[in-house]
Amino acid sequence: MNLRFTEEQEMMRKMVRDFAQSEIAPVVERMEQGEFPRDILKKMGELGLMGIPIPEEYGGSGMDYISYIIAIHEISKVSATVGVILSVHTSVGTNPILNFGTEEQKNKYVKKLATGEFLGAFALTEPSSGSDAASLKTKAVKQGEYYVLNGSKVFITNGGEADTYIVFASTNPSKGSRGISAFIVEKDTPGLIIGKDEHKMGLYGSRTVQLSFEDAKVPARNFLGEEGHGFKIAMANLDFGRIGIAAQSLGIAQAALEHSIEYAKERHQFGKSIASQQGIAFKLADMATNVEAAELLTYRAAFLKESGMKCKQEASMAKYFASKTAMEVSTEAIQVFGGYGYTKDYPVERFFRDAKVCEIYEGTSEIQRIVISKELLK
Ligand code: CAA
Repeated sequence: MNLRFTEEQEMMRKMVRDFAQSEIAPVVERMEQGEFPRDILKKMGELGLMGIPIPEEYGGSGMDYISYIIAIHEISKVSATVGVILSVHTSVGTNPILNFGTEEQKNKYVKKLATGEFLGAFALTEPSSGSDAASLKTKAVKQGEYYVLNGSKVFITNGGEADTYIVFASTNPSKGSRGISAFIVEKDTPGLIIGKDEHKMGLYGSRTVQLSFEDAKVPARNFLGEEGHGFKIAMANLDFGRIGIAAQSLGIAQAALEHSIEYAKERHQFGKSIASQQGIAFKLADMATNVEAAELLTYRAAFLKESGMKCKQEASMAKYFASKTAMEVSTEAIQVFGGYGYTKDYPVERFFRDAKVCEIYEGTSEIQRIVISKELLK
C-alpha cells in the first residue's frame, strides 16, 4: 500500500477541510437543534462533493475512492451528521445504480444524484430484520408494467429528505436471500409513506425515518439488476459503505483526540498542565495510537477498493476497529475534560453520542466479526 497521498488527494483534503471549517462548523449548533443541512448539501453539490467517485459521464467528479474517503473523514471531524449523510448518499444511495443499473437508469438517476440535485437513501432494514438482513418481509409482486410493493422499513438514513430510495423486497419468498430483488423507488411513488422520525441519541441533524409501502406502484423499468440478485447488490454496496462509516468514525475519533490535546495543554491542576501529568499523557498516547491504527485500516480498505481488489474483510475490519476507536476515544475525551466534558459547552459529549451508532449501523460490530471470521475460515 502506498502510504503517501497524491497531490490531487491532498488538494481534496485541503479543500474539504477549509469547507468544513468555513461552512459546516458555523451550522453545527443548528444541526444539533435538529435542522437538516439542506444548504450545506447544496454547496457540497456545487463543489462536486456529492459524487466524488462517480464518473464524469454520469455527472460525478470522476475522482478515486481514496479522495471520497478523505472527504468523509475530514467532514466528520467537524460534523458526523454531514459525514453520514454523504456516506449513505454515495456508497449505498448512488453506487448500486452506478454498478447494477441500466444505461437509462444511470442517465436518469445517477446524473442527478452525483451533482447533488437528488439525495439518495438505502432501504434494507425492517422492524424484524436487522442483522439478519436476508429475512426481510417486504414483498414485490409484478402486475403488468409495475411492481407492487408492500411492507415496512426502519432506520432509513436520509429518509424523508431523499429523492430516491434503493429498496430491497422479495420477489420470490420461497428462495430466501436468492429471492430478494432491488428497486429504485422515487419519493413521490404512490403508496410510499414516510413514517415516524426516530429521536436518536446523536446525529441530530441527520434524518432517520420509518417507511411503509402500501400497494406502492414502482414502474418495472425501475427494477435494479437481475431478479433475485438484490441481496448481493445490498452486500456488495455495504462493503463499500462500511469503509465510509469507518472514515466517519475516524473523523469523530480524531476530533475527540485533537480537542483533548488542546484542552489538556490549557487546563492546569496541581500547579501544572494536566497534559504534563502521566495519567492524562498516557491516555492521550493510547488514544492517538488507536486513531493511527484506525486510519491505517480505513485507508487500506479504501486503497483495495480503489485498486479493484477484494475488500470485504478489510472493509469490515476497518469499520469494526474505527467505530470501536471512536467510542473509546470519545469516552476518554470526556474523561480528559472532566466535569466540563459532561456539559454541552464543549463538543466532546457530541462526539460520544455520535460515535455510538457507528458500532451499529451498516452492520453491527458483531456482524463485522461474523464477516471477518467467515473470510478467515474460508
Ligand atoms: N458481495 C456480494 N455477495 C455477497 C456478499 C458480498 N459482500 N456477501 C454475501 N454475499 C452473497 C453470498 O455469496 C451468498 O450468495 P449465494 O446465495 O449465491 O451463495 C448470499 O449473498 C448470502 O450470503 P450469506 O450466506 O453470507 O448471508 P447471510 O444471510 O449469512 O448474511 C450477513 C450475511 C453478513 C450477516 C448479512 O446479513 C449482513 O451483512 N447483515 C447486516 C446487515 C446490515 O449491514 N445492515 C445495514 C443496513 S444499511 C444502513 O445501516 C445504512 C444506514 O442507514 C447508515
